[in-house]
Amino acid sequence: MPAKWLKDAVFYEIYPQSFNDTNADGIGDFNGIVEKLDYIRSLGCNALWINPCFDSPFHDAGYDVRDYKQVAARYGTNEDLYRLFEEAHKKGIRVLLDLVPGHTSEEHPWFRKSQSAQQPNEFSNRYIWTDRWFAGCQDLPYIAGEAERSGTYIINFFKCQPALNYGFLKPREPWQLPMDHPDCVATREAMKDVIRFWLSHGCDGFRVDMAMSLVKYDDEQKTGTCSIWRNVRQMLDAEFPEAVLVAEWSRPDLSLPAGFDADFILNDPHTNYSTLLRDYNSPVDNTYFRKDAPDRDINRYLDIYRGWYEATKDVGYISMPTCNHDTVRPAYRLDETELKLAYAFLFTMPGVPFLYYGDEIALRYQEIPTKEGGYFRTGSRTPMQWDGSKNLGFSDAEAEALYLPVDPSADAPTVAAQEDDPASMLNTVRALLKLRHDTEELQADAPFEVVCSEKGKPFVYRRGSLLLALNPSGEKLIIDADVDGREALYAMGMVDAADGRLAMGPQSFVVLK
Ligand code: GLC
Ligand code: CA
Repeated sequence: MPAKWLKDAVFYEIYPQSFNDTNADGIGDFNGIVEKLDYIRSLGCNALWINPCFDSPFHDAGYDVRDYKQVAARYGTNEDLYRLFEEAHKKGIRVLLDLVPGHTSEEHPWFRKSQSAQQPNEFSNRYIWTDRWFAGCQDLPYIAGEAERSGTYIINFFKCQPALNYGFLKPREPWQLPMDHPDCVATREAMKDVIRFWLSHGCDGFRVDMAMSLVKYDDEQKTGTCSIWRNVRQMLDAEFPEAVLVAEWSRPDLSLPAGFDADFILNDPHTNYSTLLRDYNSPVDNTYFRKDAPDRDINRYLDIYRGWYEATKDVGYISMPTCNHDTVRPAYRLDETELKLAYAFLFTMPGVPFLYYGDEIALRYQEIPTKEGGYFRTGSRTPMQWDGSKNLGFSDAEAEALYLPVDPSADAPTVAAQEDDPASMLNTVRALLKLRHDTEELQADAPFEVVCSEKGKPFVYRRGSLLLALNPSGEKLIIDADVDGREALYAMGMVDAADGRLAMGPQSFVVLK
């Protein structure tokens, strides 16, 4: 069962580089996050996920960890982070760090030892080494010609990220160690040690990077990888029962039974999540929330989602993020009204919502050059925009010294500009999250049921006893529905509910009690 505190949790994801710079060096820092805790609370968010903030050469924005127990100096000190935990807790905000268990940086001391000419040593098998000096193996990406020792090694993502060795489910060659080899067990124990370290310093859990990637030659059901996570969960149950693990996996049917509290829906095409916010897989843009989508059909997404929801609703949660540091911001395809409707949907669904910093003001995706291994993702990682002051309030550094540029447009969105307008994006997010916190039947656990998902009709769904309806199109849509005796808890656009009929004006949404 997932930790109880998740029932009413709403997360805010912070890319620490770009949130708030308090010492004018052009890059965000822990003190900057502390400074904005009241703002985060004001949104209705009561939990944070902070992207990796550990010592790193930053060839993949910190997903190439050089020291799991030491924060990167550019964000502050370990003590600053412990203080962040404390200050956040005082305000009722939990904090998840980002755990990267599948690989380290090639500069991690484990790897330095593992690749050295002095063999064998304690870390020889911490990574996956073939017994060839030049070739690898066909089906796993490998690097040749870099190590002092003779052998090629397997990577997990970029070239700079050698894969940690948790063993092979079914070894096919002598260099492929079985999962129960003491050196593979040692890798797992080392990761548990990292987990214990941060939890005992006050963090509340982890978002787990590439959680599916641990065991090589795993089967379809990820039997090997799942057994490792179950082992981690047993440790947590015994030592840190409130600790939360959120998987980057997009297979809730596998991850949740293995001990994760929640799993993100991302990773098209097997989730079809992008068809909701940015339909980049089909030649025609049928993004569900676009007013003018020529062939709008929520079932493209729902058919997949419902299977997972039904299979896992008693085990854990599905998270549908507004976006994250790897995806294009939703404001790229959706205008303000479309975005408001999209958020109305995301924030009234079961599971645990995640709001990516800046999405609450419709921060735009920027077409800019890559930074720290971001490539197209860099455009979603630009600084938070607070007000009309220098660098839109992100930093007092010179503009050229910023980690990434702020939006140069004259109408760049900022928090300050939206603060006083009750209909702004920002205040709509606040209103929706307040509604969720005030209404138990909109939270993580209350049942979800589809009433109508037919094309050309409003999308109608139930959360517990509540009836909700959504019409993202530009036309008025009418449907028979059990509306009599109900009152609207919340509405956007023109909605008329009477005499067994629900008339949903163009681009409208309603929650009926
Ligand atoms: C995950 C992260 C991504 C990173 C990759 C390798 O997908 O979200 O940012 O590049 O893993 O760690
Ligand atoms: Ca700074």
